[in-house]
Amino acid sequence: AAARLHDLVKPDEGAVSRTVFVDEATYRKELDRVFTKTWLFIGHESQLSEPGDYLTNFMGEDPVIATRGADGVIRVMLNSCAHRGMAVCSTDAGSSKFFRCPYHGWTYSNNGDLIGAPRADTVYHGELDKPRLGLKAVPRVENYKGFIFANWDEDAIPLVDYLGADQLWYLDLAFEAPLGGLEVIGPTMKFRIKANWKLAAENFAGDDYHVLYTHGSAFQIGFLPDYDTLGDYIAYFDHGHGMGDISKPGRAYQNDVGMAQLLGPEAIEYVNAVHERLKARVSPLQAEMHGLGQGNIFPNLSWIKFGVFHVFGLFQWHPRGPGEIEVWQTALFDRDAPQSVKDFARTQMSQENAAAGIFGQDDGENFEQITESARGVVSQTRDFNYAMGLGHEGEIHEEGYPGHLGPHYSEQNHRNFYRYWLELMTTPGEQK
Ligand code: FES
Repeated sequence: AAARLHDLVKPDEGAVSRTVFVDEATYRKELDRVFTKTWLFIGHESQLSEPGDYLTNFMGEDPVIATRGADGVIRVMLNSCAHRGMAVCSTDAGSSKFFRCPYHGWTYSNNGDLIGAPRADTVYHGELDKPRLGLKAVPRVENYKGFIFANWDEDAIPLVDYLGADQLWYLDLAFEAPLGGLEVIGPTMKFRIKANWKLAAENFAGDDYHVLYTHGSAFQIGFLPDYDTLGDYIAYFDHGHGMGDISKPGRAYQNDVGMAQLLGPEAIEYVNAVHERLKARVSPLQAEMHGLGQGNIFPNLSWIKFGVFHVFGLFQWHPRGPGEIEVWQTALFDRDAPQSVKDFARTQMSQENAAAGIFGQDDGENFEQITESARGVVSQTRDFNYAMGLGHEGEIHEEGYPGHLGPHYSEQNHRNFYRYWLELMTTPGEQK
């Protein structure tokens, strides 16, 4: 019998049942209540700079196409033919005025309107109801500083409110720092892992604790400096968002300068130019803070910035059933960074978090084996434990830092993730 979700997911007690990571019915409910009610990342504006440009992505398991129309407007629509469901676009990105379905040839404008079908006059007797048979449009599409999100919920709160001013106070550092703006570099890397999507999302939302051990070898061999110096706090925000490796004022800048010194004068000059730019564009405290670690924008968009040089790594954890994730990994760089910095950043990205990167492999192994063990009937009798820091929340304070700040190592962000997940998964009237 299906136990009630409130009995299975108890964030305030630091306990979450293993069943919600493997249960098919819970998963179907997630697709419906989480992935059609929240703002999901679609792409970056730099990928759709000209009219006619398009890209494909997923919202939950629903394939979508984002296009920039001749009118300059960015639209997002279901990538599934209104005839019998074939994907009308099967490439990652490109430029086109229309999409022709490969199955029977129905043709849609890049606004999603059905504009033609082969032999429509005879086979449909001229009665094909074209206005009703366009590609289904995603009703809400909004953009924050170039990051395009879409939402199936017509009544959703605006994107900027969903992300929230507290979280954006931090994210603005990454959005405002690049000298020439962010641009997507290279194709999106895609691979699948046999794990539940929530394990990856909650990890990026602030599981700094695992870095000490899972990624311990990287520090032991001197690949990275002492991890305790890379961040001081984590923080969570309304709507399930969380981030980790937040530094005390000044520390991230010092780390950047330290790294730049290894690369030479061009890199030092670059770090200082970024710092000056921040001073001109954000508050003095934000500028002094200078950099960010990683985080998760609820539900399934994680990001990472590697200490230096404002490389932005995005991870979309596309769910493919309760036990599988299709990872989409995209790198964004400062368009005007010196080539030596770009090269360094790209190498670092591929060595660390790419499909074959050491961090990505370590993490993937954990997520897969956790999912596998959660299928056992005996293992399901023991909840996952998210109790670190329970009863000690709110004890950390850093003047001027918004959000719910916590110590570097705490599971407060995980609890926040599951609190919001539970809110979406249970209607207000549902019995507790
Ligand atoms: Fe697209 Fe038939 S499924 S034209």
